[in-house]
Amino acid sequence: MYKIPASTVFMGKNLVFMPECHSTNTFALELCHHSIIPEEGTVVATANQTAGRGQRGSTWIVEPGANLTFSIILYPAFLTIADQFYLNMAICLGINDYLIGKECEKVCIKWPNDIYVGDRKICGILIENQISGKSINSSIVGIGLNINQIIFSMNTATSLSLETGTTYELSNELEHLLVGIESRFLMLRDAHFNLLKKDYLNSLYRINEEHTFEFESEKFRGTITGVDSHGRLLIQVAHEQRTFEMKEVKFIMP
Ligand code: BTN
Repeated sequence: MYKIPASTVFMGKNLVFMPECHSTNTFALELCHHSIIPEEGTVVATANQTAGRGQRGSTWIVEPGANLTFSIILYPAFLTIADQFYLNMAICLGINDYLIGKECEKVCIKWPNDIYVGDRKICGILIENQISGKSINSSIVGIGLNINQIIFSMNTATSLSLETGTTYELSNELEHLLVGIESRFLMLRDAHFNLLKKDYLNSLYRINEEHTFEFESEKFRGTITGVDSHGRLLIQVAHEQRTFEMKEVKFIMP
């Protein structure tokens, strides 16, 4: 069971906790279709997600009771569709800030929205926006952050516990994490786009280093130089700057 966070302004003040849930993103989306609209910052959390959804139709499977698995309901109506990647940046930065505060070393953001420690993934994010006209009506921000899990089926995953050697109380960690996310969301609401982008790029995995990537089954060497305003990845390949849509390009891992 989680407690209502004391130190946020609005995030998590309304907290729906379920010991078991199919997918907190799906549940949050269903809440938004009720006649009583949930208040902004409502958090839907579970200890055991049985049908967790990941990016590109993948599944998100973690050990029950060991990690943070939750969704936040936001109404970023102030954000145009063209600027929706800034929400992505704000959420990634909030999680990044929280992990840095836990003295977790080598934390970074892997484009577009995974959080890594070194070359291992610690957190997955699934943002589902409901678009109305030219703006975002509501946004479900789903977060799966590995906290106390020690054993993973893939050696490309890690957790806060594995990184720091400490075991955490999940309710406290949710509160601290929400403080971090709220602070970055408020920056977004105050239109600090340039600052968000600067901080996002400063934390970007493999920026300004030459690495191998894959596009349409072809491998190539290139250097990430940034993202454009639509969130597309910019990679310098020899003398050409190439632009990649989300999910078009694969990072070749060591
Ligand atoms: C990914 O990296 O593929 C994204 C994973 C997102 C998982 C979280 S867990 C809470 C929320 N509910 C879901 O069904 N998915 C997200």
